[in-house]
Amino acid sequence: MNLTTILLVSGFLATAFFVYKTFFVKKKKRTQQTPENSEAAKHNVHFSDSDDSDSDSDSDSDSDNEVQEREFTLEELHQYNGVANKEIYLSVGGVVFDVTHTEFYKPEGPYHCFAGQEATINLVESTFETSTLNKVDISDKPASFKQEMEDKVDFYGMKYSRVGWVKEWKEANEQKSDEEKKND
Ligand code: HEM
Repeated sequence: MNLTTILLVSGFLATAFFVYKTFFVKKKKRTQQTPENSEAAKHNVHFSDSDDSDSDSDSDSDSDNEVQEREFTLEELHQYNGVANKEIYLSVGGVVFDVTHTEFYKPEGPYHCFAGQEATINLVESTFETSTLNKVDISDKPASFKQEMEDKVDFYGMKYSRVGWVKEWKEANEQKSDEEKKND
């Protein structure tokens, strides 16, 4: 094998590796950073009066790498606390996020108490009060709370992958929305 052959072969391998890495990394980022296209976003569980008009839009073209989002009961969610299950999920505004890859929620982390929990009130009001964990009825909260909740959901959506939505939250807040509409 002469020098030209070696250079040609290594050049080809480097190009092939670069192309593979570029495609792989781009696809992964797109999956994590477009929560708007996600199944949970279609269910838009944090806003009771959401517009579901895009619920049947086709985002299947990315399905090979897309996280398969699903419904969680609160009981199921509690399993994803980094102890019973090594993955760690938490919910805010009824949207379940995968927070496994940060130290915050690990068993030795400062915010482990939120691992596997629906923690909307705690995260919005910055409290460690345990009685507000998994409370899905937020009808007593003012409009400012709902705005802050929306901001929190956006914050988590920018940082973490959505993996689903909380059944009880969706039921509680969809019912509220129907009642509110009737009263209008
Ligand atoms: C003296 C009070 C507090 C201080 C100085 C503090 C400080 C911080 C800092 C600096 C971060 C960001 C760390 C980083 O991004 O690297 C953080 C994250 C966080 N804090 Fe606190 N915190 C305080 C109280 C609280 C309380 C009362 C709560 C209750 C909900 C809370 C919940 C959180 C959560 C959940 C995160 C992680 C958010 C994420 O996933 O990115 N903090 N805190």
